[in-house]
Amino acid sequence: MYDAFDGENLRWEAVLKRDPAADGRFYCCVRTTGVYCLPSCPGRPHRRNVFFVATKGEAARAGFRACKRCRPDRLAAGSIEDRIAAIDWTWIGDGLDHDGFASLGRLLNDEECASLAAAYRADRDFRSTVTMARHGFGAGEYKYFADPLPPLVGDLRARLYARLTPVANGWRERFGDDKRYPTDHRSYRAICAAAGQARPTPLLLSYGPGDYNRLHRDIYGSETFPIQVAILLSEPGKEFEGGEFVLTEQRPRMQSRAHVVPLAKGDAVAFAVNERPVDGARGVYKAQMRHGVSTVHRGRRMTLGVIFHDAA
Ligand SMILES: [Fe+2]
Ligand SMILES: [Zn+2]
Repeated sequence: MYDAFDGENLRWEAVLKRDPAADGRFYCCVRTTGVYCLPSCPGRPHRRNVFFVATKGEAARAGFRACKRCRPDRLAAGSIEDRIAAIDWTWIGDGLDHDGFASLGRLLNDEECASLAAAYRADRDFRSTVTMARHGFGAGEYKYFADPLPPLVGDLRARLYARLTPVANGWRERFGDDKRYPTDHRSYRAICAAAGQARPTPLLLSYGPGDYNRLHRDIYGSETFPIQVAILLSEPGKEFEGGEFVLTEQRPRMQSRAHVVPLAKGDAVAFAVNERPVDGARGVYKAQMRHGVSTVHRGRRMTLGVIFHDAA
């Protein structure tokens, strides 16, 4: 499918036609304005001022901002495979290595967010429900999906895993661990099962007014994949207020540092589950990461959590 817009001339032709089928296949950087656009943007740049890039990450790295008219940063079109392929994984890997988290941008569209949020009421899709206050986890509720996962969730889990494995293996290497994560998720699930962890961990979280999630790590046994992904399914400021995604990092002999990751509806963030390697003066040391959600003040905040190791 990429072939249809391979080559400068075909791409420029798509821009002239404002072809929506080209959206997400490539992006147009406009030198004169410093913005990057979708091929279907109503703006009319001159050919000599435009160059093409394959991903939003490339455009951002070249110093371009997302166009306010066509909002390439809000595009979530095409198959999950195409959307994940369009993410600049080198950039994401650098972010994870440097900060312990990285925004993946918008991964799900409004319809997908709504259908996942609505699935929360269908009890047959889930293996268990956790009332957070009962366990001292915070206030709110979440549900773990049962196997087989809904196709969208299963697709996201397997494809994100494959993209994050190189980073996770890099972390193992820096920690001096000889083991490596397999590149496909099916093989990794077999490793989890052999460790007695055979129940799926993707989950939907539902927070109403006054609800929050204490800083924590999602660990379910000895087998842990060091990175996980969360996707916000509700629109901040409209469907809910408050409820910020928070990460903290604790380095040896230092006080904790907090990060607030701004997310819009459909946005995904990848972050360290627990420990991540940091280069110090005397070699690599472990920084401890925790994540949580600040208090929701109004409305309902729904999230999809994609954890890659299974639970006991
Ligand atoms: Fe969590
Ligand atoms: Zn534009």
